[in-house]
Amino acid sequence: MNPIRLDKFISERTEYSRSQIKQLVSRKAVTVDGQIVKTSDIKINPETAKVTVNGNEIRTERYRYILLNKPDGYVCSTTDNDGESVMKLVPDNLRTKNMFPAGRLDKDSLGALLITDDGELAHRILSPKKHISKIYIVKLDRPFKNNYVNLFKNGLELASGEVCLPAEVRGCKMSEKLAFIQLFEGKYHQIKRMFSAVGNHVDVLMRVSLGNLILPEKLAFGECMELLHKDVENLFLTPDFDGFCHDFTGIFSAKLINK
Ligand code: URA
Repeated sequence: MNPIRLDKFISERTEYSRSQIKQLVSRKAVTVDGQIVKTSDIKINPETAKVTVNGNEIRTERYRYILLNKPDGYVCSTTDNDGESVMKLVPDNLRTKNMFPAGRLDKDSLGALLITDDGELAHRILSPKKHISKIYIVKLDRPFKNNYVNLFKNGLELASGEVCLPAEVRGCKMSEKLAFIQLFEGKYHQIKRMFSAVGNHVDVLMRVSLGNLILPEKLAFGECMELLHKDVENLFLTPDFDGFCHDFTGIFSAKLINK
């Protein structure tokens, strides 16, 4: 690994700007391998140097991957222009400067949202060509009908005339008004428009998996967790949908029923 400048290393991994880092250095708040540094332009090995700022160690990994269990009422953007941003829910100790939500859930939708500063990975996830699996659980206004299964599988036509890619949908044994749906694309308000096309209505929508990364039940609405490298690789795997529906435990379903 090529050496990089200390200020670049810190700036890429934190919310500090380069000028703030300069000030921190002049206040003797930055150490490298246990030694207080005098200037911020020294070169370090980003893989082996132990860097601290105000006594807190800066991690070596270049990018951060955060899984948020999105609550109702937050918008998937980096600004508060259209409502409170999901970024407000990322704790300071997990946040870096260039983070953004890699994907969209409607303001009233819930569940798994990836937040990262890895633009390349986000691009791979969001690319329409990649067909990443996403599984949602929905609470419907009217009971689920079995004819939805074939209608969704055959590529549903929306009221706008847009045709959806084949999708999987199953009723949930816990309630006739709950259903699971697996999509491989992400059109605007897609699930709401799909159920509207079959004469139903989505009351509550929650994303429960991104690829084979399943939202942990212990993660409450509004909570974040940092993902490990192996979790990130799971994003590109496709879970078996029927197995997923079968194994799905009641906690999220109960949360949705009670919404
Ligand atoms: N489909 C929708 O209608 N809304 C979402 O938030 C996600 C998928």
